[in-house]
Amino acid sequence: MIRVNEHYSKLKASYLFADIAKRVAAWSQANPEKKLIRMGIGDVTEPLPPACIAAFHAGVDELARRETFKGYGPEQGYAFLREAIAQGDFQSRGAKVDPDEIFVSDSSKCDVGNIQEIFANDIRVAIPDPVYPVYVDSNVMAGRTGASENDRYAGLVYLESTHANGYVPALPTAPVDLIYLCFPNNPTGATATHAQLKVWVDYARANKALIVFDAAYVAYLRDPQLPQSIYEIAGARECAIEFRSFSKTAGFTGVRCAFIVVPKDLKVWDAAGREQSVHALWNRRHSTKFNGVSYPVQKAAAAVYTPDGQTQVRALTDFYLGNAKLVRAEFARRGLACVGGENSPYIWVEVKRDSWEFFDTLLNQAGVVCTPGAGFGRCGQGYVRFSAFNSRANVEEALGRIATLL
Ligand SMILES: Cc1ncc(COP(=O)(O)O)c(C=O)c1O
Repeated sequence: MIRVNEHYSKLKASYLFADIAKRVAAWSQANPEKKLIRMGIGDVTEPLPPACIAAFHAGVDELARRETFKGYGPEQGYAFLREAIAQGDFQSRGAKVDPDEIFVSDSSKCDVGNIQEIFANDIRVAIPDPVYPVYVDSNVMAGRTGASENDRYAGLVYLESTHANGYVPALPTAPVDLIYLCFPNNPTGATATHAQLKVWVDYARANKALIVFDAAYVAYLRDPQLPQSIYEIAGARECAIEFRSFSKTAGFTGVRCAFIVVPKDLKVWDAAGREQSVHALWNRRHSTKFNGVSYPVQKAAAAVYTPDGQTQVRALTDFYLGNAKLVRAEFARRGLACVGGENSPYIWVEVKRDSWEFFDTLLNQAGVVCTPGAGFGRCGQGYVRFSAFNSRANVEEALGRIATLL
């Protein structure tokens, strides 16, 4: 008899964005003549940078000619992209990352969901609250938790990110083995300083723990004092894996390209206490279950690191940050505290009431969609997340409607 993975039954009934989609669909059906403005989900709206488009086209043309045709590529990614990433994102900032420590994939969502597979099932996992839901759900599916009660899974250690700690969680009081961190943060938009990340790196090294560092929004950092990579922190090569994506950097949400950095210094221990290489384990997993990102997509991603690509990516992210500034200013004018939006495309607004109630009011009375903070965890109650990914005209119209409503 084929049997189900029982751990799936512990997952909360619906994924946050499915829940939102249901309410939005009901509103749209009831208000067919009204225009809906989506400022909830973090999907980009602007076209790809021209340098990426040109490289994408050139990559497709190569596939059209026998002399330049390519079949399967290396599972880990083509050398031209891995070298461009290592130099452009890390070595240029003084962080030691070698091209063969980079694994190119089609998605950060898959990478952050899959990474837990190479670790034991009885490890203790620390996850921020509020959080990008994939970190939690992938560990629930793997059976590392008990049931969920009051928005908390038994067995997980929750790292509370609140106004009081500036949305950068403190070290856990109980020992943990796998730690998820995300800066600039989704959903809060908060950032972490060198000193704050060093606390986590020192903890992980002292406790033989491993940090999963999700830097999906690194392209939005503008404060030159802030670290862009966890490898700018001494010792991080021994305790951290970094995740990056071209989705929000270069508008690749529909194109799909991402990568993770697995330093060769990173160790994991077996039941007998013997060291094993995380790099070797991930390489085994990646090359068994993944067959590489399409060649034209990798060409398009590599174009991000050309001088034109860098200028265009900066302009693209500046544009969204311009939207974020308008959103922040509007809520500040209404006396609602905000975090994020300065080094991040997300603005986390303290709405001082139930976050689903605020979501429903905004949807029903203004036709504007935000994301209720409670959907990201217990600490998100009383907050909503606004995304800056939209056209300027839509952002201005949405803010006008919000001003009228509030
Ligand atoms: C924190 C975080 N990590 C990862 C991802 C997934 O990125 P990708 O589009 O590469 O799957 C997202 C997407 O919204 C995200 O917010």
